[in-house]
Amino acid sequence: MAVRELKVNVHSVGAIDWDRRLFDALIPLPNGTTYNSYLIKGSEKTALLDTVDPSKEHDLLSNLKKLGVGQIEYVISHHAEQDHSGSIPKILELHPNAKVVTNPKCKKMLIDHLSVQEDRFITVEDGETLSLGDKTLEFIYAPWVHWPETMFTYLREDKILFTCDFLGSHFATSDVFVRNESRTYDMAKRYYAEIMMPFRNKIQKHLEKIDGMDVEIIATSHGPSYDNPKFILDAYKDWISPDVKNEVIIAYVSMHDSTRRMVEHLADALVERGPVVKVYDLTKTDIGELAIDLVDAATIVIASPTVHVGPHPVAQNVIFLANALRPKLRFAAIIGSYGWGSRMVEQIAEMIPNLKAELLEPVVIKGHPKQEDLEALDKLADEIIEKHKSIDVMK
Ligand code: FEO
Repeated sequence: MAVRELKVNVHSVGAIDWDRRLFDALIPLPNGTTYNSYLIKGSEKTALLDTVDPSKEHDLLSNLKKLGVGQIEYVISHHAEQDHSGSIPKILELHPNAKVVTNPKCKKMLIDHLSVQEDRFITVEDGETLSLGDKTLEFIYAPWVHWPETMFTYLREDKILFTCDFLGSHFATSDVFVRNESRTYDMAKRYYAEIMMPFRNKIQKHLEKIDGMDVEIIATSHGPSYDNPKFILDAYKDWISPDVKNEVIIAYVSMHDSTRRMVEHLADALVERGPVVKVYDLTKTDIGELAIDLVDAATIVIASPTVHVGPHPVAQNVIFLANALRPKLRFAAIIGSYGWGSRMVEQIAEMIPNLKAELLEPVVIKGHPKQEDLEALDKLADEIIEKHKSIDVMK
């Protein structure tokens, strides 16, 4: 892992985790990730902005050694989650005079999660500044991206905004700045979908705040930094906008092929009628891909067989996730087949209180699909098209 310069006396000293493939034992990381930590050397004091996941502590320490860092006076903690805070105890051990600078909420969490001693903290208010000599840090409270204690730091003289998780991407790359915008776009959208989407309303306010600032570089805690901040800010404005696209996601599981045949029929009927259709076999799906599509889609169709009168457990997993991610979906439908009895529709409806989607007429059948069942699916396709027209997404 190498030290990389963002500006004079501002260095990226974190770690690249090329091999990590799962986050939170849940989120696939097809492209690994980085844990970005930044060292800012002022004419009088030195500050370290966040640390790294404990598994990569050695990389951070070795980078600090390469830079010849003597004393660190301040460790700025933007977020208490351990992939950024986990190496704070080690830094405090090696730098006995260093103080952790953070907000009161984050301080409490760092005590809870890492047992950092009370006397090692300096707490700051929203808007408060800290001088390093010729460099000034301004702290900006930015709660709920994606925990309640999150905050940003603005380095005034260099016009760099450090946003921690916000605007980041799980992208293991040696590039300190974005080199390939379309590739980064995909990874940043995946990151938004999996982590930030439930906080759309809060994000709107943070974006407005950043728009009012003079920012040349946005440096996040995962993935490359943005030397063209407009690129990522515009992408976020699109993702959080209330608009949905003329897209239908069909997420399905099938045990004896009946549900799969229903899905194929419905997908064909929809394709003939115009919208973009995306079909996911949930036994093989990277849930990150599905989450990306949930950012924009107008409609989701959940297709499942019945297991013990409810939806298949694999479908339940995705229904739970969709509910937790709170996508903009405007319509939802349930289709599937059962062997002897089903309460699947009622159970799924109870599992999605966070979705503001209108539930369309379900098509849940006994056994394999017959002619009247296929006609019911054609009718559902017609209804989805009419609903999309009603909200003007037929582009
Ligand atoms: Fe990258 Fe919320 O931690």
